[in-house]
Amino acid sequence: MAAEAVDLPAARAAAGGCHACELWRSATQTVFGEGPSNADLMLVGEQPGDREDVEGHPFVGPAGRILRQALGDAGIDHDRVYVTNVVKHFRWTPRGKRRIHQRPAAEHIRACRPWLDAEPRIVHPRVLVCLGATAAQALIAPAFGVSTDRGVPVPSPLAPRVFATVHPSSILRARDESREREYDAFVRDLRAVADAARVA
Ligand code: URA
Repeated sequence: MAAEAVDLPAARAAAGGCHACELWRSATQTVFGEGPSNADLMLVGEQPGDREDVEGHPFVGPAGRILRQALGDAGIDHDRVYVTNVVKHFRWTPRGKRRIHQRPAAEHIRACRPWLDAEPRIVHPRVLVCLGATAAQALIAPAFGVSTDRGVPVPSPLAPRVFATVHPSSILRARDESREREYDAFVRDLRAVADAARVA
């Protein structure tokens, strides 16, 4: 089966033709993870957004901008990080001319799981970070609470150290008066991740 591919190019090529759920019909393309195949750090988001769907790369839209800035502020070189998503097709609903993000449903997460399992199996990151509740609940525990359990390592077979923190888009959505505080807390979590990557 294609998700058992032994390297990233083969897994990416196979995922490009994935029809395991219906999301491929309304998405432009599969957006597979990107980054070095020997990355120490893997970040897992929810699903590609509108920009990612058009460009075919993860985290290239507004959430990606915040993520890159926060990685830099935490002393993490973005080019050495492998970035992916739980679901690899954009789920959206039309509102006028706009495509509005919809959270992936359990069946989409289940259908996409073989690709998400393949990525850490091939990359072997020392540290894996779930960005937001969708990733944390898919990969750590169904009842995982990102706001209460963020930034601390949790036991997991996925990598020697596994963390969860908020999704960068939650910082974009935060009210003006709390946005800076939310951003600083996100950077603090990423600094803990950077420390763990050095010693894991
Ligand atoms: N949000 C995600 O979870 N992933 C992306 O790639 C972009 C936005």
